[in-house]
Amino acid sequence: MDYSQMGLIIGLTLTLGATVLHLARGTPWRPTEDISQDVLEHRAKSVPETDFPEPMNRSIGGGGAVAAVGGEAGAELEGGEGESEAASGPGDIPEDEIEYYEVEWVKEGETIEVANNEPLLDQGEDQGWDLPYACREGSCVSCSAKISGDANELIEHDNQQMLDENEMGEGYVLTCVGYPRGEFSIETNEAP
Ligand code: FES
Repeated sequence: MDYSQMGLIIGLTLTLGATVLHLARGTPWRPTEDISQDVLEHRAKSVPETDFPEPMNRSIGGGGAVAAVGGEAGAELEGGEGESEAASGPGDIPEDEIEYYEVEWVKEGETIEVANNEPLLDQGEDQGWDLPYACREGSCVSCSAKISGDANELIEHDNQQMLDENEMGEGYVLTCVGYPRGEFSIETNEAP
Protein backbone atom coordinates (compact mmCIF):
# COMPACT_ATOMS: atom_id res chain seq x y z
CA MET A 1 0.00 0.00 0.00
CA ASP A 2 1.48 3.30 -1.03
CA TYR A 3 1.06 6.64 0.64
CA SER A 4 -1.80 7.79 -1.57
CA GLN A 5 -3.85 4.72 -0.77
CA MET A 6 -3.14 5.12 2.92
CA GLY A 7 -4.18 8.80 2.74
CA LEU A 8 -7.39 7.84 1.00
CA ILE A 9 -8.22 5.27 3.66
CA ILE A 10 -7.49 7.74 6.47
CA GLY A 11 -9.63 10.40 4.76
CA LEU A 12 -12.52 7.98 4.32
CA THR A 13 -12.23 6.86 7.93
CA LEU A 14 -12.32 10.44 9.23
CA THR A 15 -15.29 11.33 7.02
CA LEU A 16 -17.16 8.23 8.17
CA GLY A 17 -16.35 9.04 11.81
CA ALA A 18 -17.56 12.60 11.46
CA THR A 19 -20.78 11.40 9.83
CA VAL A 20 -21.41 8.88 12.61
CA LEU A 21 -20.74 11.49 15.26
CA HIS A 22 -23.06 13.94 13.53
CA LEU A 23 -25.89 11.42 13.42
CA ALA A 24 -25.30 10.28 16.99
CA ARG A 25 -25.62 13.73 18.57
CA GLY A 26 -28.83 12.77 20.24
CA THR A 27 -32.45 13.38 19.60
CA PRO A 28 -33.70 16.90 18.94
CA TRP A 29 -35.20 18.91 21.92
CA ARG A 30 -38.91 18.72 22.28
CA PRO A 31 -40.82 20.75 24.86
CA THR A 32 -42.10 18.66 27.74
CA GLU A 33 -45.81 18.30 28.00
CA ASP A 34 -47.55 21.12 29.85
CA ILE A 35 -48.90 19.54 33.06
CA SER A 36 -49.71 22.77 34.91
CA GLN A 37 -53.44 22.25 34.40
CA ASP A 38 -53.20 18.74 35.85
CA VAL A 39 -51.31 20.11 38.85
CA LEU A 40 -53.93 22.78 39.42
CA GLU A 41 -56.74 20.27 39.22
CA HIS A 42 -54.94 17.93 41.59
CA ARG A 43 -54.48 20.74 44.11
CA ALA A 44 -58.07 21.77 43.72
CA LYS A 45 -59.05 18.31 44.91
CA SER A 46 -56.47 18.08 47.70
CA VAL A 47 -56.66 21.60 49.24
CA PRO A 48 -59.65 21.78 51.57
CA GLU A 49 -62.17 24.54 51.08
CA THR A 50 -62.31 27.20 53.75
CA ASP A 51 -65.01 29.68 54.53
CA PHE A 52 -62.70 32.57 55.26
CA PRO A 53 -60.72 34.69 52.84
CA GLU A 54 -57.26 33.41 52.19
CA PRO A 55 -54.11 34.95 50.79
CA MET A 56 -53.72 34.65 47.05
CA ASN A 57 -51.26 31.78 47.22
CA ARG A 58 -53.98 29.56 48.66
CA SER A 59 -56.54 30.56 46.09
CA ILE A 60 -55.48 27.80 43.69
CA GLY A 61 -58.22 25.24 43.37
CA GLY A 62 -60.64 26.64 45.85
CA GLY A 63 -60.04 30.00 44.23
CA GLY A 64 -63.57 30.49 42.98
CA ALA A 65 -65.15 29.78 46.31
CA VAL A 66 -62.49 31.71 48.17
CA ALA A 67 -62.94 34.68 45.93
CA ALA A 68 -66.67 34.58 46.60
CA VAL A 69 -66.14 34.39 50.36
CA GLY A 70 -63.54 37.13 50.14
CA GLY A 71 -66.06 39.21 48.29
CA GLU A 72 -68.58 38.84 51.08
CA ALA A 73 -65.97 39.62 53.69
CA GLY A 74 -64.93 42.63 51.67
CA ALA A 75 -68.51 43.81 51.63
CA GLU A 76 -68.66 43.40 55.40
CA LEU A 77 -65.47 45.35 55.77
CA GLU A 78 -66.83 48.11 53.60
CA GLY A 79 -69.94 48.13 55.73
CA GLY A 80 -67.72 48.35 58.80
CA GLU A 81 -65.93 51.34 57.42
CA GLY A 82 -69.24 52.97 56.69
CA GLU A 83 -70.32 52.36 60.26
CA SER A 84 -67.12 53.77 61.69
CA GLU A 85 -67.61 56.86 59.55
CA ALA A 86 -71.07 57.21 60.95
CA ALA A 87 -69.92 56.54 64.53
CA SER A 88 -69.08 59.70 66.37
CA GLY A 89 -66.78 60.32 69.30
CA PRO A 90 -66.80 63.03 71.95
CA GLY A 91 -64.70 65.24 69.68
CA ASP A 92 -67.07 65.02 66.71
CA ILE A 93 -68.99 68.17 67.41
CA PRO A 94 -70.27 70.35 64.57
CA GLU A 95 -68.45 73.63 64.24
CA ASP A 96 -71.48 75.69 65.29
CA GLU A 97 -72.03 73.61 68.42
CA ILE A 98 -68.55 73.84 69.89
CA GLU A 99 -68.55 75.24 73.41
CA TYR A 100 -65.73 76.75 75.44
CA TYR A 101 -65.07 76.52 79.15
CA GLU A 102 -62.72 78.41 81.44
CA VAL A 103 -60.21 75.99 82.89
CA GLU A 104 -57.54 76.92 85.37
CA TRP A 105 -54.30 74.98 84.84
CA VAL A 106 -52.93 75.17 88.37
CA LYS A 107 -49.34 74.06 87.80
CA GLU A 108 -49.00 76.01 84.58
CA GLY A 109 -50.33 79.10 86.33
CA GLU A 110 -52.85 80.08 83.66
CA THR A 111 -56.54 80.01 83.00
CA ILE A 112 -57.49 79.41 79.40
CA GLU A 113 -60.62 78.69 77.43
CA VAL A 114 -60.78 75.10 76.31
CA ALA A 115 -63.05 73.77 73.57
CA ASN A 116 -65.22 70.74 74.08
CA ASN A 117 -64.15 69.10 70.83
CA GLU A 118 -60.47 68.61 71.63
CA PRO A 119 -58.68 66.59 74.32
CA LEU A 120 -57.28 68.57 77.24
CA LEU A 121 -53.76 67.37 76.48
CA ASP A 122 -53.83 68.79 72.95
CA GLN A 123 -55.20 72.10 74.15
CA GLY A 124 -52.54 72.37 76.85
CA GLU A 125 -49.84 71.58 74.33
CA ASP A 126 -51.24 74.28 72.06
CA GLN A 127 -50.24 76.67 74.82
CA GLY A 128 -46.66 75.44 74.51
CA TRP A 129 -46.76 73.50 77.78
CA ASP A 130 -44.68 70.36 78.06
CA LEU A 131 -47.31 68.02 79.45
CA PRO A 132 -46.74 64.35 80.26
CA TYR A 133 -48.06 61.61 77.99
CA ALA A 134 -47.09 58.24 76.50
CA CYS A 135 -49.71 56.32 74.53
CA ARG A 136 -52.14 59.14 73.74
CA GLU A 137 -54.95 56.64 73.48
CA GLY A 138 -56.23 56.12 76.99
CA SER A 139 -54.36 52.94 77.76
CA CYS A 140 -51.73 54.11 80.25
CA VAL A 141 -51.84 56.76 82.96
CA SER A 142 -48.88 58.88 81.88
CA CYS A 143 -51.10 61.83 81.03
CA SER A 144 -53.35 61.62 84.07
CA ALA A 145 -54.36 64.75 85.92
CA LYS A 146 -56.79 65.71 88.65
CA ILE A 147 -59.60 68.16 88.23
CA SER A 148 -61.60 70.03 90.86
CA GLY A 149 -64.78 68.05 90.57
CA ASP A 150 -66.36 64.82 89.42
CA ALA A 151 -64.72 63.76 86.17
CA ASN A 152 -67.70 61.52 85.44
CA GLU A 153 -69.64 64.72 84.81
CA LEU A 154 -67.04 67.28 83.82
CA ILE A 155 -65.05 65.12 81.40
CA GLU A 156 -66.07 62.86 78.56
CA HIS A 157 -63.39 60.28 77.93
CA ASP A 158 -63.01 58.78 74.49
CA ASN A 159 -62.50 55.10 75.22
CA GLN A 160 -60.21 55.32 78.24
CA GLN A 161 -59.31 51.95 79.79
CA MET A 162 -57.45 52.85 82.96
CA LEU A 163 -59.63 54.78 85.41
CA ASP A 164 -62.62 53.38 87.23
CA GLU A 165 -65.70 55.32 88.15
CA ASN A 166 -64.51 56.01 91.71
CA GLU A 167 -61.20 57.43 90.53
CA MET A 168 -63.00 59.65 88.06
CA GLY A 169 -65.36 60.62 90.86
CA GLU A 170 -62.29 61.85 92.76
CA GLY A 171 -61.40 63.99 89.74
CA TYR A 172 -58.81 61.90 87.96
CA VAL A 173 -58.80 62.21 84.19
CA LEU A 174 -56.71 61.05 81.27
CA THR A 175 -55.98 64.25 79.45
CA CYS A 176 -55.07 62.58 76.14
CA VAL A 177 -58.62 61.31 75.64
CA GLY A 178 -60.49 63.62 78.05
CA TYR A 179 -62.83 66.23 76.55
CA PRO A 180 -64.02 69.04 78.82
CA ARG A 181 -67.73 69.25 79.55
CA GLY A 182 -67.69 72.05 82.11
CA GLU A 183 -65.51 74.45 84.07
CA PHE A 184 -62.92 73.26 86.56
CA SER A 185 -59.32 73.64 87.60
CA ILE A 186 -56.82 70.98 86.66
CA GLU A 187 -53.59 69.77 88.18
CA THR A 188 -51.53 67.95 85.59
CA ASN A 189 -49.20 65.06 86.38
CA GLU A 190 -51.43 63.66 89.13
CA ALA A 191 -52.25 59.95 89.17
CA PRO A 192 -54.62 57.98 91.41
S1 FES B 1 -51.00 59.12 77.42
FE1 FES B 1 -51.55 57.09 77.93
S2 FES B 1 -53.54 57.36 78.73
FE2 FES B 1 -53.01 59.33 78.10
